[in-house]
Amino acid sequence: MHDGRTGAESAVVSAFGRKKKNRHMAAAAALAVFFCACGRPLPEPPDRIQAGVAYYNQSDTFLSELNDCLKEQLYKLENKHFEVTVTTKDAAGLQRTQDDQVKELIDAGCNVLCVNLADRSDPSEIIDLAREHQVPIIFFNREPVAEDLMQWEGLFYVGADAQQSGVMQGELAAKAIQADSQIDRNKDGKIQYVVLEGEPGHQDAIIRTESAVDTLKKNGIELEKLSCGIANWNRAQAQNRMMQIISEHQNRIELVLANNDDMALGAIDAYQKLNYTETALPVFFGIDGTDAGLEAVAESKLAATVYNDKEGQAAAMAKLAAALVLQKGLEETGLVDGKYIYLPYEKVTRDNVSSFTGA
Ligand code: GAL
Ligand code: CA
Repeated sequence: MHDGRTGAESAVVSAFGRKKKNRHMAAAAALAVFFCACGRPLPEPPDRIQAGVAYYNQSDTFLSELNDCLKEQLYKLENKHFEVTVTTKDAAGLQRTQDDQVKELIDAGCNVLCVNLADRSDPSEIIDLAREHQVPIIFFNREPVAEDLMQWEGLFYVGADAQQSGVMQGELAAKAIQADSQIDRNKDGKIQYVVLEGEPGHQDAIIRTESAVDTLKKNGIELEKLSCGIANWNRAQAQNRMMQIISEHQNRIELVLANNDDMALGAIDAYQKLNYTETALPVFFGIDGTDAGLEAVAESKLAATVYNDKEGQAAAMAKLAAALVLQKGLEETGLVDGKYIYLPYEKVTRDNVSSFTGA
């Protein structure tokens, strides 16, 4: 770097190549509009949106697809009045690493942060840093508990309602089971099932499982749980867990409920690896509608999935980021309780999958 920028700053690519200025003062000004109801004249809004985006783990399939949408939406905000820069960090699962990365982003002059917490129960250090420098935070996908979000006015959350996704998965599975008597392969009137779960402690893991199972029962499906494996959202881990589960239960498994598409695909991989024939396969259900998930639905490998609206989440985050930095339009962001934006899930089956893939 010849322009004397530090490492952290050099990662910031300005679309206009203009010099960064004002740093924390600009960020502080951005928040003043909400915090200062005291009638003093407000400082000018900054001429740039400098967003710092921190991921818990960028190799997570859903989040890497969300990241593409978010960058697109943030850069779309740019116009002749202000420039937009986006810097992305990956904590590789460690909250300590993410705390340091957030500090770097603030030091580099970011005036809004989007944080996908590594540990959703431990945001205190990040919140303290942000408050100290008056840089608002939009948490996303990994929801902090309400008490943490209440710690300061500059904290927001964009995501989706875990229970809704579980209920939809349960409804999709109930409908499939009612429509196809072959799913109950041993004809005992019950559905023998296995659950593949995301990370323990994640709002989308336990709640999705519970509400999917409850919904199946409410729809009159008799269930017998054979096993439950934790695979941390990950396709390879799900394949491993599923190989073990298959070795314990052989061809008794009739239904696999996975907390996300990657784990459903990992379960399918396990059966493929073991050369199971199609008639001995269970039915698989996922959540997310990732590219690979949608493809599997189109090919009828995955019975159905539930679309986790990454485009909607990214658009909501970009709109909120702009409103916070530019000090206008906050009323139009659809914030609930001044803090939350939840985007709805949607059911995806073979019948409507083309409207999600654009095919
Ligand atoms: C969930 C998503 C998973 C995983 C997880 C990471 O909402 O369904 O696939 O991305 O977030 O926090
Ligand atoms: Ca059965």
